[in-house]
Amino acid sequence: MKVDTELFGRLSNQEDAQLFTLQNSQGITVKLTNFGGTIISVLVPDRKGKLEDVVLGFDSLEDCLGPHPYINTLVGRYANRIANAKFNLDGKEYHLAQNAGTNHLHGGIKGYDKVLWNYSQYADHDRAGIMMSYLSFDMEEGYPGNLKVDVHFSLNESNELAIEYSAATDRNTYLNLTHHGYFNLNGAKNTIYDHEIQINASSYVETDKDLMPTGKIIKLKGGPLDFRKMKLIGPEIKKLESGFDHCYIIDREKDGPELAAVVYHPASGRKMEVYTTEPAIQFYSSNFLTGLRGKGNIKYRKHLALCLEAQHYPDSPNQPHFPSTLLKPDEIYRQTTIHKFWVE
Ligand code: GLA
Repeated sequence: MKVDTELFGRLSNQEDAQLFTLQNSQGITVKLTNFGGTIISVLVPDRKGKLEDVVLGFDSLEDCLGPHPYINTLVGRYANRIANAKFNLDGKEYHLAQNAGTNHLHGGIKGYDKVLWNYSQYADHDRAGIMMSYLSFDMEEGYPGNLKVDVHFSLNESNELAIEYSAATDRNTYLNLTHHGYFNLNGAKNTIYDHEIQINASSYVETDKDLMPTGKIIKLKGGPLDFRKMKLIGPEIKKLESGFDHCYIIDREKDGPELAAVVYHPASGRKMEVYTTEPAIQFYSSNFLTGLRGKGNIKYRKHLALCLEAQHYPDSPNQPHFPSTLLKPDEIYRQTTIHKFWVE
């Protein structure tokens, strides 16, 4: 396999963003840029071999600059919400940007989705990938500690698009990294109502009207949020006020990447499995997606795509009984999330 690199565009500070192409012999092609670790397109064949781009996104760097709701970008330093945009750490109160009402969302004003990442690339007979690195400085967006983040995107001959993260800090800090892909296995022609989904979770994080955790974990016992068995999305989403925007706690039987969710589009036969080492996955059905034009000049609208953001629970820094998101200087943060594509 190999990596093709071309110029994607120039930023206002004269730095260049690259466009990388990864392609395997099974017909899968992934394009991504080092601006925000943004995925530009993912071509996947259907039953008849017809290729379709299964992610939303943008044609140009200019459109990637936004504003847009984290379409296919990396998210950090803390993905999801932090209540009242503050937390205590080592006896000190830290204040973050209030960019979601009075709360903090997805790392702040200039998060990891809006920075240019350094890169290197590699390829062998079975796998091709890009290693992206970013040095997030001490107190950037209000977070303590110089944090060195490496994210390795790769595609292999088994149709796995893997995103592997590692990070190290020089001071105690809170960290929750994710990638915010917007998927539609039928190529953003219609909503995701005709997709089926299964989520291997028997509980989820209860949230209030601002999508902030109440602290309670709720057991799933049937109803529209329960996806332990594969179900069509359309009939379930109609039972909800706005759609899905829930943090599911993955049922884990082993260490290492666990199957968290399966998405299937019966008409085309395209299927995507998501494996992760993270404890949870945010299932978001693009409820706030409106007023934006994406690639091919398509008008983006509510419920046009689904996101499966592997991560820790929202607001963990303020919820001591949630799995910890604290990273100490003598530790290394690691996360692996794999998207595996099938035709069935
Ligand atoms: C995540 C959140 C949503 C929304 C989107 C971005 O998925 O859970 O509530 O903020 O990001 O629009």
